[in-house]
Amino acid sequence: MAETSSLLRNHTGYRIAGSNPALSAIYIKTPRTAGRFCLCCKISGTLYPTGMTVSQEQISDESRVTSYENRGSLLDTRYSRLAPARNTLRSSAHTHGQTFSTRPTPQLRYTMPPEKFRQGDAMTDTLTIARPDDWHLHFRDGDLLAETVPATANVFGRAIVMPNLTPPVNTVAQADEYRQRILAQVPAGVTFEPLMVLYLTDTTPVEEVERAAKSDFVHAFKLYPAGATTNSDSGVTDPGKITHLYAAMEKHDVPLLVHGEVTDADIDIFDREKVFIDRYLNDIRRQFPGLRIVFEHVTTSEGVHFVREASELTAATVTPQHLLMNRNDLLVGGVRPHNYCLPILKRRQHQESIQQAVLEGHGRFFLGTDSAPHARNKKEAACGCAGCYSARAALPLYASFLEQHNALDKLEGFASHFGADFYRLPRHTDTVTLVRKPWSVPEVIDAAGEAMVPFYAGQQLPWSLG
Ligand code: DOR
Ligand code: ZN
Repeated sequence: MAETSSLLRNHTGYRIAGSNPALSAIYIKTPRTAGRFCLCCKISGTLYPTGMTVSQEQISDESRVTSYENRGSLLDTRYSRLAPARNTLRSSAHTHGQTFSTRPTPQLRYTMPPEKFRQGDAMTDTLTIARPDDWHLHFRDGDLLAETVPATANVFGRAIVMPNLTPPVNTVAQADEYRQRILAQVPAGVTFEPLMVLYLTDTTPVEEVERAAKSDFVHAFKLYPAGATTNSDSGVTDPGKITHLYAAMEKHDVPLLVHGEVTDADIDIFDREKVFIDRYLNDIRRQFPGLRIVFEHVTTSEGVHFVREASELTAATVTPQHLLMNRNDLLVGGVRPHNYCLPILKRRQHQESIQQAVLEGHGRFFLGTDSAPHARNKKEAACGCAGCYSARAALPLYASFLEQHNALDKLEGFASHFGADFYRLPRHTDTVTLVRKPWSVPEVIDAAGEAMVPFYAGQQLPWSLG
């Protein structure tokens, strides 16, 4: 550690900003002194695991980063293989992108992947992985299915279909009908399996759990605390009071999917996830050790910690928005309604905990987009709806994030293996191919006659679907 520190301290133009025990790492970033910063400054930091001896070579490798282009909070890193190995990290030129005059919020870059990927990145033009699945998705219903089903089915082989319709999908019989409506919209020649989920209420009968276990298309129950999010009014009013249902799920081995937020008016919106863990989830985990639990759309370091510390029967889904963004992306420079989702984006340290779990290839953190369309006028409104419609861009977004962190080798596990393993479903044997070809996310999508603004609308991503 001492050796690492002194090596980095000698590093021209940069200083050690301190070690972060939560991440077991030492972190270097640009000075915070200048008055105006390009948003691209956000990625000038690098995280080195504690105890890792950082060689001159590794630092030199970083000097190959020659330009950063601002893509909102996703940055396209270009490498110059010809750049001489200099032992300095260089900040990018401020010739583009939005500027703001507050202190910069450097986004971390992690340097943990195997050497082969550090070498390979710049030359990889296609990337073929086993077909991925989306373990958290909102298709909605009716005419919207003509947009949402192909958008997902063209990429993903299966999706966990969230049941928060109006009225919600409470029974196996309702799930069967909804499933038929979804299947009717799968494009010809495409194989896609919707994995149905039932919506828990205060009055869900234990027999429904038994019926779900017997069916071959219902794969889980979703716990929405009443009032926590879109169409959750008939959710569970006290998650501590349906222990008989958790017991039945444990007995029949049906996973419990959790929207982990309390809804009390006196709890700050940024604390709702942590309080839910303290108040309910720790107890549920302890009382039902054989119950499979998915902590949906994890947003906090406490959530990440909960999953890490729990047994193999506990996992989390990770959305593109919580991986790529923090609350600055929602609020700095004006309110960005299309980045508004629930649970709300948190501060950067929480984002970094999620990134860390994904970048290290932790097998219980897997892809779940939480793609949740709302019409443009419902998002850009005095009281806007929560949800990001990310289905079309999700895989290129995850790939771009991982590449930015030299961790493209983690994509297949995250997107195609870990979730299937957790749900005890076979991994797909067919593949999808991503191509390094810039692709611009549409500015707006016409869906069921209404305008919808997708996540990352109008922004160019370095990867597209082949
Ligand atoms: O942002 C969100 N939108 N979070 C949720 O939990 C629900 C979703 C939706 O259905 O709109
Ligand atoms: Zn959701």
